[in-house]
Amino acid sequence: MLISGSGSNLQALMDRVEDGTIPGRIVRVISNKADAYGLTRAQEAGIDTLVIDHKAYDSREAFDAALIAAIDADEADLVCLAGFMRVLTGGFVRHYVGRLINVHPSLLPAFPGLKVQQKAIDAGVRFSGCTVHFVEEEVDAGPIIAQAVVPILPDDDASALAGRILKQEHRIYPLAVKLFAEGRLSTRNRTVLVDGQPW
Ligand code: GRF
Repeated sequence: MLISGSGSNLQALMDRVEDGTIPGRIVRVISNKADAYGLTRAQEAGIDTLVIDHKAYDSREAFDAALIAAIDADEADLVCLAGFMRVLTGGFVRHYVGRLINVHPSLLPAFPGLKVQQKAIDAGVRFSGCTVHFVEEEVDAGPIIAQAVVPILPDDDASALAGRILKQEHRIYPLAVKLFAEGRLSTRNRTVLVDGQPW
């Protein structure tokens, strides 16, 4: 699991592993930031952690190579990005194709990138939400596993909206990981199927 910050999605996944909903375990939490609170959450739960500071590397390729070496040493089946604030190289994404997933706080393909809650408010859309998707080389793109819709209220600011979206992230990210861990996800023409069926 790769994080850069608070790790509330990590917490949601840890909780669903703990209560048996997700048949698997989190082998390691890796952060590019030493002060990420998610590292504390992981350590308190007895999960191994590692800091790989991107500033210590000359290039994205070198940083990503260090990430790959660490992840592959653990033989993880699935790599989860959750608030990991580094753009990954094509080489990294290709290495984990089909087993690299991300959560993003908008209804993709609308509003990729950063500060997307404010962008949704500024665009005047009535609904936003969150997306869990397989990662492809383009940022915030790839076959969509799960989405949840969140209404935008008349007096919403970015922080209020982000908080409501985050609650839904905590619901659909564990669901997506559960389906993956149960071997129930596949893709056909870039559409994600569950148990071989559209859902
Ligand atoms: C989430 O909104 C995620 O979608 C975004 O960054 C936030 C991370 O939150 N990319 P947390 O670290 O899981 O609390």
